[in-house]
Amino acid sequence: MTENLSAQSDRLTLHYEPMDAIHREFVTLCAALASADGVAFLARLDALIAHTAIHFEQENNWMLERDFPSAGCHQREHDAVLGVLREVRECTLQGDAEVGVRLAQELPNWFAHHVDTMDAALAEFLIKAGPVVGPVPEVVQ
Ligand SMILES: [Fe+2]
Ligand SMILES: [Fe+2]
Repeated sequence: MTENLSAQSDRLTLHYEPMDAIHREFVTLCAALASADGVAFLARLDALIAHTAIHFEQENNWMLERDFPSAGCHQREHDAVLGVLREVRECTLQGDAEVGVRLAQELPNWFAHHVDTMDAALAEFLIKAGPVVGPVPEVVQ
């Protein structure tokens, strides 16, 4: 499935480049996880968790900055998935390799659905909203 996800990268493009760039990295890290085992699996899972925390925080910040209407639902899904990733890490540390294999198989399915639904709605909203206009910096002379 991970290979399929990589092949679907164009289909997953949402035309909001900051988000698309994060998603391309996520797809790469998912593929790396699926091709690893043992010590390499844990290292790649750690890399995926670190990246995913940043990925989700960035999207959560975009939603807060722009007062996105469905922010609560989207953020709860982010929190739940990050929680699962951390639980799988704990299971892996305790010697359960099977749960990691299942994660590597299922994560691409979840991601494709999340991009098609929640992220697509957010990207469309952000594109329509345009860039954030911050306060004009005070010029000290
Ligand atoms: Fe995303
Ligand atoms: Fe998201």
